[in-house]
Amino acid sequence: MKRLAVLTSGGDAPGMNAAIRAVTRMALSMGWHVYGVRHGFSGLIKGELEVLGARDVGGIMQRGGTMLGSARCAEMKTEAGQVEALRQLGSRGIEALVVIGGNGSQTGAHALSRRGLHVVGVASTIDNDLLGTDITIGATTAIDIALESIDRLGVTASSHQRGFFVEVMGRDCGYLATVVGIAGGAEAIVVPEQEMTPEEVATEIRDAYERGKSHAIVVVAEGAKHDADALARYFIEHEARLGFDMRVCKLGHVQRGGVPGAADRLLATRLGAAAVEQLAAGKHGILVGMRGDEVATTPLDQVVGAIKPLDTQLLKLAAVLAR
Ligand code: F6P
Repeated sequence: MKRLAVLTSGGDAPGMNAAIRAVTRMALSMGWHVYGVRHGFSGLIKGELEVLGARDVGGIMQRGGTMLGSARCAEMKTEAGQVEALRQLGSRGIEALVVIGGNGSQTGAHALSRRGLHVVGVASTIDNDLLGTDITIGATTAIDIALESIDRLGVTASSHQRGFFVEVMGRDCGYLATVVGIAGGAEAIVVPEQEMTPEEVATEIRDAYERGKSHAIVVVAEGAKHDADALARYFIEHEARLGFDMRVCKLGHVQRGGVPGAADRLLATRLGAAAVEQLAAGKHGILVGMRGDEVATTPLDQVVGAIKPLDTQLLKLAAVLAR
């Protein structure tokens, strides 16, 4: 009988629980034993594994975060960490591992795969920056959360003729900022992939004021060269007149802690189940994600270290519609 372990790693994402549930129940349906690993690779190295049954994953789908806990684990980058992770699995007779997480987590998955373990990654990060999938678990819910906040900021900003630099997550990628900016009707969007100087941002804000807008929303990705704090500081230092009185609002981890929406629950369920089906079919060393409406697989060595390119046409569209 096959033994499989599942872990969640890196930044938590709404929908991870639905993926854990799907992995567990799909594997149980095949007659496998399932182990849940606490606190990602860090817990794996410490041997924090427990048997998961069907009831253990009941009632979790509607909860944000991850019932298994997550962590960022520097040790997994070392040979000693990887060898110990394999030893912990081997000592329990575990032959396969499902890794639910983003870029850093899939790098760990890849390292174990190269050492011979049967590993399948499940694409999960609010950043939606993983190559090999159109959409990642958690991104849609995070977008909705950020959007609700932006709508609220717009209301108070209009009352006071203010502007806001709203910082959203996205260390290396401006996907969240871009889609939230478009759906929130932002006056400008600042992302790591396409640098905007403070002067260019100032022009957008001033123009919006002169066109008679009641407020200005600038959505800034945290990984942009000039983040929200840097932009605000720049305009204070240069005593720039922007029309609007500008404030900063960082949404930060608020975006990660939401109740997963239907789209994320469904996506996570499909990807979690597909990961087990791939292992059952003898496939491993791959990431499962979505292309169009179909589950698709990509070799982990193509995924790790790469960032999915941002569709810069979306930025052009946003600029046109911010009139
Ligand atoms: O990778 C997802 C993410 O939310 C990034 O957007 C963000 O930069 C990072 O995690 C924050 O990580 P942490 O919660 O470890 O500070």
